[in-house]
Amino acid sequence: MEAVRNKQVLFRGFITAAPKETDMEFRVGTAELRIPEGFKGVLVKNLYLSCDPFLRSRMREFYNSYIPPFTPGSVVEGFGISRVVETNDEGFRPGDLVSGLTGWEEYTLITSTDRLRKIQVDEKIPLSHHLGLLGQSQLNHARMPGFTAYAGFYEVCSPKKGERVFVSAACGAVGQLVGQLAKLHGCYVVGSAGTKQKVDLLKNKFGFDDAFNYKEEPDLAGAMKRYFPDGIDIYFDNVGGATLDAALLNMRIRGRIAACGMISQHSLSFKEGIHNLYMLIPKRIRMEGFIQSDYLHLFPQFLDRIGDLYKEERIVYMEDTHQGLESAPATLAGLFSGENVGKQVVCVCRE
Ligand SMILES: NC(=O)c1ccc[n+]([C@@H]2O[C@H](COP(=O)([O-])OP(=O)(O)OC[C@H]3O[C@@H](n4cnc5c(N)ncnc54)[C@H](OP(=O)(O)O)[C@@H]3O)[C@@H](O)[C@H]2O)c1
Repeated sequence: MEAVRNKQVLFRGFITAAPKETDMEFRVGTAELRIPEGFKGVLVKNLYLSCDPFLRSRMREFYNSYIPPFTPGSVVEGFGISRVVETNDEGFRPGDLVSGLTGWEEYTLITSTDRLRKIQVDEKIPLSHHLGLLGQSQLNHARMPGFTAYAGFYEVCSPKKGERVFVSAACGAVGQLVGQLAKLHGCYVVGSAGTKQKVDLLKNKFGFDDAFNYKEEPDLAGAMKRYFPDGIDIYFDNVGGATLDAALLNMRIRGRIAACGMISQHSLSFKEGIHNLYMLIPKRIRMEGFIQSDYLHLFPQFLDRIGDLYKEERIVYMEDTHQGLESAPATLAGLFSGENVGKQVVCVCRE
């Protein structure tokens, strides 16, 4: 069998700061389009790859976590959408479209097929949206945005009509959907983001009631007070750090904080402390961390509801698509400087 070109992105070595393009290496190798003897699985052609904050957690030398680190020198692994080229696993056929953990390369041999999900194609929903809007994973460590927003908002935040909701990293893959779900639920919603362009999108495209640029607010607690003079009922926290600290000061009695992610802390060797935790007591605030895969039983319901809302044009979903595998390292690094506007996707091949 003739070997074909296989472009790849390798992880160079463990890091202690925010990821940089140079922490990964692009190379052109080869692949044989057949399953090697002795292996069971599927050989896939990768079409779209997802850039997610959790990949940073796999770049540190820390083994005592639910998520193992990458091996230096190996191909970066992340969530993707792929076409099955060859299979000796009876659960799949050549031509199937699947989503699941795959390599940052053109062709990947996947042996853990129990982690793959077959995609039911719907021509009204772009295929790449299965990484963002409709994204879910059966793995703890593949955290996908759409289902995260859905489970986090409805299950952790216990929202009620008319409540005041604050969302950070609001223009990102998770945040844009949380805000729209909250609006559909009848809530007042304000988002924070790091550029004027994102603030405009939040107000004009995603339908938030208001939004502000946290980078232009030296007094974050004061800014929140301006947007929530009567306090916040629900804070959907994607960033942690100073924003969480300021939100704690602005919560209402019996408010809820969904601790979804703390991207501001991902790249710090020593995490910042939170000073205002004492507010949990007089305000009787419930603060709860969650992982989307805790709620897998809700996934079929989520697919139907969010798919319908999208097709009925009651929600929108924005992607930031980068062309070619070569763009993947810079695209991942961009998540940590806020360069993405919406869900970060790398298109390896459109077919
Ligand atoms: N619990 C779960 O199951 C689960 C699942 C998926 C994701 N997550 C978490 O959810 C959060 C959002 O993920 P996502 O996929 O939607 O990412 P994203 O929001 O699309 O991208 C990350 C954004 O975070 C903001 N950011 C980066 N560094 C920051 C900092 N130091 N301080 C404040 N904001 C910063 C940037 O936007 P700005 O321009 O606004 O700065 C950046 O665009 C992450 O914390 C992630 O780890 C959790």
